Amino acid sequence: FAPKVLAGQQVLVTAGPTFEAIDPVRGITNHSSGKMGFAIARAAQEAGARVTLVAGPVHLPTPEGVRRIDVQSAQQMLEAVERSLPEYGIFIATAAVADWRTANVSEQKLKKDGSGQPPALQFVENPDILATVARTAQAQAGTLYCVGFAAESHDLEANAQAKRLRKQVPLLVGNIGPATFGKDDNALLLIDDHGTTELPHASKRVLAQQLVSEIARRLPDTQRA
Ligand code: C5P
Repeated sequence: FAPKVLAGQQVLVTAGPTFEAIDPVRGITNHSSGKMGFAIARAAQEAGARVTLVAGPVHLPTPEGVRRIDVQSAQQMLEAVERSLPEYGIFIATAAVADWRTANVSEQKLKKDGSGQPPALQFVENPDILATVARTAQAQAGTLYCVGFAAESHDLEANAQAKRLRKQVPLLVGNIGPATFGKDDNALLLIDDHGTTELPHASKRVLAQQLVSEIARRLPDTQRA
């Protein structure tokens, strides 16, 4: 039994890594498992919300009742999010989006040319999906509540607070403890305008349920169903 704290709400979640192609057979990605984002999507659905999950390449089953859109790159993730966004009132960005992509994806597989010289890859910065969404009229008008995540190696509170202000999101969730990637448990530090709240060490399933309740409690009156 889960209390229906998000009844009548529409929730959009990003999860997993992105994959940035170098050529048709290679690319750059990271070790995000998608577990936290999938757990949040499941918990939000169980709390009564209609949920869409935009997922990078992960090996996880789709939570029951959740609509899933699979993408590869950060640009595809942004497009999928922007296409869906008008229908949503809550945006939760858990994806570990690649900061850079290759400037030119080679149409053919890169081959060793015998010179001993490796290819010179060039990179360009990817769009910041969360910051882009937080700047939309919807978010500025207070009809879209945005939640970001932060994985920091040090000074979690200060870095997460700086990130919250830079990306202009009301709630930023910090991963406490090192190397949460791939694990089934975690601990979270919630940072909003009023200060910090700690969700102590627990399974990602339990943390996701607690986080959903914390988000529901913070929704502005204009967004209550
Ligand atoms: O700046 P940093 O990558 O640490 O920010 C993390 C937060 O921003 C996460 O919520 C992540 O999903 C989101 N993000 C994003 N698009 C990016 C980079 C990060 O949505 N290109």
